[in-house]
Amino acid sequence: MSLEPRLVCVVGARPNFMKIAPIMRALVDRRVPVRPYLVHTGQHYDEAMKDSFFRELAIPEPDVDLGVGSGSHAVQTAEIMKRFEPVLDEEIPAAVLVVGDVNSTVACALVAVKKGIPVIHVEAGLRSGDRSMPEEINRLVTDRLSDLLFTTERSAEDNLQAEGVAADAIHFVGNVMIDTLFFNLPQAVSPADTLRKYGLAFTDEDLERGFALLTLHRPSNVDDPQTLRRLLGSVAEVAERVPVLFPVHPRTRKQLERFDLLSFVAGHRIALMPPLAYLELLGLMSRARVVLTDSGGIQEETTALGIPCVTLRENTERPITVSEGTNTVVGSDPDAIRGCVDKVFSGRGKGGRVPELWDGRASERIADVLKDWIATT
Ligand code: UD1
Repeated sequence: MSLEPRLVCVVGARPNFMKIAPIMRALVDRRVPVRPYLVHTGQHYDEAMKDSFFRELAIPEPDVDLGVGSGSHAVQTAEIMKRFEPVLDEEIPAAVLVVGDVNSTVACALVAVKKGIPVIHVEAGLRSGDRSMPEEINRLVTDRLSDLLFTTERSAEDNLQAEGVAADAIHFVGNVMIDTLFFNLPQAVSPADTLRKYGLAFTDEDLERGFALLTLHRPSNVDDPQTLRRLLGSVAEVAERVPVLFPVHPRTRKQLERFDLLSFVAGHRIALMPPLAYLELLGLMSRARVVLTDSGGIQEETTALGIPCVTLRENTERPITVSEGTNTVVGSDPDAIRGCVDKVFSGRGKGGRVPELWDGRASERIADVLKDWIATT
């Protein structure tokens, strides 16, 4: 009896976990004739950044954890490559599937392609046009190396074709992160329970009046003290209207301490929390009056939920969240942020609709394409 081919699936950092969960499920449900082998690179490793996601999203235990941890881009990428190579030598997979745009994505794609192993990229073709963003480099390189490319929005296909990717390698399937969102929304934790858990003193009436949710972790926003201070000044203005709930990424926590900004935050109605579990964040996001963020995934999730999103970046690689969704890209200019937030609170905020194929079934489409692809390669 011949064994089904191996499919090595890679995750490394927090946003990867939401993307791999429905894919792993669909491989089984749609009976794709492969034996999945899940590699966690260990790029994110804390309980709050990793384990809670595996548990809540029912992701199978990784077959191997490479335990790379943190480091400069070169160190982290190189370490992932060194530790990933023996996995491929051992497993001899038919293909390697990578998701998103983190360092683990590009590192594993590069190892696979040099060994002649086909690369499958989920969330291909997104472009911010901003090469100072590490993720943009990861996206460009990963797509260049990939044999099969799954896209979340139509602009991604245009980007890939403009870069010379063959049309028949590209499949517009929708958004696996939104599969996870719709699948888990009924289990989202109520904001009151989350606030109680973290010892934050908000009454039910406070919450009824509404709250804003803030996330910040991009190096361009948090690694420069002037930018971070300016952004927090704008957030403090929002906090004069409604409480601002701020789950803090480890990178940002370090910088708030280093730049001595914790006392500024404490002097305003900005409630700091540790990084949240998926179902906790989903609960806050789905009930917020407005979300301020520099995350890529949250721009998409707020669009799917119909919640106004103010993106604290100069650009976005996910333009459909602006053209069809609830997202406005404002950068870090205080006047632009104030203007956008004013609109939301005066009821003149953007409406939006859920983009094409963001229907909770992207992973099933991926599984079906994979079945055909395996049959013909
Ligand atoms: C990474 C991704 C980014 C993604 C983000 C989501 C890259 C280039 N960046 O950025 O695209 O949006 O994850 O969170 O891959 N740390 C911990 N515990 C952890 C993980 C990290 O304390 O479990 C701290 C470390 O001090 C580390 C810092 O956070 O140095 C940054 O982690 P790293 O994985 O390098 O990048 P992120 O900023 O998390």
